[in-house]
Amino acid sequence: MLDFETTVRARHSVRQFLPTPMTNAQIREVAEDARRSPSSTNTQPWSVHIVSGETLARLKKRIMEKFEQGELCPDFAYDQSKFDGIYEPRWREFYKEMFAANGVTRDDSEGRKKITRRNAEFYDAPHAAFLFMPDVGDGNVNAASDMGMYSQTFLLSLTARGFGGIPMLFLAMFADVVREELGISPDFKLLHGIAFGYPDKDAPINQFRSKRASVDETVTFYE
Ligand SMILES: Cc1cc2nc3c(=O)[nH]c(=O)nc-3n(C[C@H](O)[C@H](O)[C@H](O)COP(=O)(O)O)c2cc1C
Repeated sequence: MLDFETTVRARHSVRQFLPTPMTNAQIREVAEDARRSPSSTNTQPWSVHIVSGETLARLKKRIMEKFEQGELCPDFAYDQSKFDGIYEPRWREFYKEMFAANGVTRDDSEGRKKITRRNAEFYDAPHAAFLFMPDVGDGNVNAASDMGMYSQTFLLSLTARGFGGIPMLFLAMFADVVREELGISPDFKLLHGIAFGYPDKDAPINQFRSKRASVDETVTFYE
């Protein structure tokens, strides 16, 4: 098991997985770690659905079909253009560098589409966790923050144990499909998914690391 500092620094979004599945016991250990996450008034709003094997193959197929047809059905709206000001250069740079790491330039629309499509292939991950939460109206923002805590613990646990994962908003675009395929009540809303498994350490895309703003840019200290 990796120590804390190594784990935090080693974690990154894995965009190519090996086909080798994790064992049920290994997945359970990660879920054991993740359930220790903090949540507002200890509500633990996470309802997590972990999908592997034939069920994942079926789900992937249906998501790919919807993706190809351009039929999105998210529970929560997402508008990238709202992230303007200091945030816009960050996401623009991320896209540019991530596409470049895949050998695709800005004007290569076919290449970009192929990379976006990798999301629908779950980056070949043998497992995916779907993170649902109850629809609690005005409290949704608090619940979503709790869900983020859960996701990060899940991801760090994977890394510390020699596995890897990637949080995926892309998967939330197909909330209805996931609910239908897994028989989940419409009372639960899909925030995001996490594809996970063994990282393919030799894959060029897994050498890519996105940048971070400095502590001085993001933290204000008072005395
Ligand atoms: C909630 C959330 C959703 C994300 N959705 C996607 C996604 O759908 N596809 C993808 O390739 N990366 C996705 N990412 C990964 C981010 O691009 C990545 O976390 C960010 O660039 C920082 O890089 P790192 O995770 O490698 O440190 C998502 C990250 C988060 C936290």
